[in-house]
Amino acid sequence: MPLVNAENLVKKYDKLTAVDGVSFHIDEGQIFGFLGPNGAGKSTTISMLSTYLEPTSGDAVIDGFSITRQTAKVKSIIGVVPQEIALYPTLTAIQNLKFYGKMYGMGGEELDQRCHELLDLVELWERRDSRVENFSGGMKRRINMAAGLLHQPRFLLLDEPTVGVDPQSREHIFDTIFKIRDAGTTILYTSHYMEEVELLCDYIAIMDKGKLVAGGTLKQLLSMLGEGGVIEIEVVPPGCPGGLVENMKMQNGVTAVRHEDSQLTISSKNSAHSLPPLLKVLEDSGCDIERLEIYTPNLEKLFIRLTGKELRE
Ligand SMILES: Nc1ncnc2c1ncn2[C@@H]1O[C@H](COP(=O)(O)OP(=O)(O)OP(=O)(O)O)[C@@H](O)[C@H]1O
Ligand SMILES: [Mg+2]
Repeated sequence: MPLVNAENLVKKYDKLTAVDGVSFHIDEGQIFGFLGPNGAGKSTTISMLSTYLEPTSGDAVIDGFSITRQTAKVKSIIGVVPQEIALYPTLTAIQNLKFYGKMYGMGGEELDQRCHELLDLVELWERRDSRVENFSGGMKRRINMAAGLLHQPRFLLLDEPTVGVDPQSREHIFDTIFKIRDAGTTILYTSHYMEEVELLCDYIAIMDKGKLVAGGTLKQLLSMLGEGGVIEIEVVPPGCPGGLVENMKMQNGVTAVRHEDSQLTISSKNSAHSLPPLLKVLEDSGCDIERLEIYTPNLEKLFIRLTGKELRE
């Protein structure tokens, strides 16, 4: 049973259509990723799902409640962590969380306990009494995330939670996201970093210019590229002994071999299977390897294939 069902969401700003008929569903317990470049419409979609922005047309149902007709109900079951950090710099970590808790109508012992739990979760309990203005970008992001979790939402929307974060803090954020998922929360994650959605997401929707251009598990998406990878080998001496290219083409899984100067570019259905016989053929030919690289298919390549442009401009 999907927890979220979005049907043909559209958001227009005057002439610009920021979200152009987007439909998807998110199963309970999933980390669902929106991957797309700047301006793709990710934040606009999040704003509509979180009822901050009214769709021009279309609707979504979250846990049975409509985002257009039951906004109060939707607000009570979702948590939103916006792209822009929304914390009070002069307040401490715990004061910020208490402020947000009160906005959700929480208080007393329940709020104290929840703040403690969440500061533990994001590993900032020790820093609870420091002002947020003295925190690093990653620490601010983690407090921002804790603020979105105060009222134990069933569905958490995370809008680019790792922007401006150092690699160590990013690891922390990933750990936290997995912990939140394991505790039963369904998560929508948006990013323009393909490595992040590859690592985190159970299902990935690729977005460009307001539309979903592809969707699936990482494996399903990569199989759309229809190739197992490319092996590049630079050989010395330059040039190839007669028959080498033909010989390579006959090896297990190899679909094409291109030869230019000292470089051989080999396409293969499965690089791991093709590599050992290819190396043997090379050795037998008396060539030495100067450089060897294996490129596996990735979401960046798929994005280029689908849209004709790079994910990161
Ligand atoms: N309030 C607004 N008024 C007019 N246009 C807007 C408004 N908000 C967003 N847009 C436009 O809608 C499009 C989608 O923006 P959105 O913020 O949803 O993209 P995004 O995928 O979140 O991008 P980013 O990765 O940069 O955060 C952009 O072209 C943006 O300029
Ligand atoms: Mg955005």
